[in-house]
Amino acid sequence: MKILFIGDIVGKGGREAVRALTPGLRREYGCDFCIANAENIAGGSGMNKNCLQALFDGEVDVCTSGDHVWDQKQFAAEIESLPNVLRPANYPGTQPGKGYGVYTSESGQQVAVLCLLGRTFMAVGAECPFAAAERIVPELKKITPLIVIDFHAEASSEKIALGRFLDGQVSAVLGTHTHVPTADQQVFPGGTAFQCDVGMVGARESVIGRALQPVIARFRHSMPQRFSVVEKGIRLHGCVVSVDDKGRARGIERVLRDLP
Ligand SMILES: [Fe+2]
Ligand SMILES: [Fe+2]
Repeated sequence: MKILFIGDIVGKGGREAVRALTPGLRREYGCDFCIANAENIAGGSGMNKNCLQALFDGEVDVCTSGDHVWDQKQFAAEIESLPNVLRPANYPGTQPGKGYGVYTSESGQQVAVLCLLGRTFMAVGAECPFAAAERIVPELKKITPLIVIDFHAEASSEKIALGRFLDGQVSAVLGTHTHVPTADQQVFPGGTAFQCDVGMVGARESVIGRALQPVIARFRHSMPQRFSVVEKGIRLHGCVVSVDDKGRARGIERVLRDLP
């Protein structure tokens, strides 16, 4: 089967691009299942139920998240009613929501999705993602060999290390968070597909989805700025992973599409 995985969706422009492009991409690549990182869909920071519904209407099956998952205050109360939305699994177990789930693809196969957060260069109170994977992956393997991990992390080295650590254990380890796609997509020897960062669905004329000048000014002067989201000129970054019935990845291909 084939799985479409879409990087961090930024703001209204990103949501609209996903709605417009995802159904066509699914048909074009023959994908049975679609996962998208939605941590930036609500005004560029966080998520809410209405914005998530727009993605599900656009044929996204499961939404993952990351360090911005709780940026919208009401979302802590909403997540429990959203079984197809995941918070990082290595956040404290006392948080609302869940970090992994098993879902059914269009072709009837069970796909497990696990969301993990990195700790290097990130100010987060998360458990070691390696330890969390070591605990959770065997549980998921009892249900299905098709396991996809969104590893939401800053450091390339941490992402590669987790991918290599899990090679042969899961179908794919796909990075998010930096909003910039990397050209290192490959299938590791054990059969795990990997890409350090899948990229974002956000404006081409931006700094990771935000207007250029305030970000440049912040770096130059170290003074507070309002970082507005750029909602036009949107580019979608993602990848398509091919997986066999035993959960082994057979290929990974980068996807880049501009909203016409
Ligand atoms: Fe993000
Ligand atoms: Fe992030």
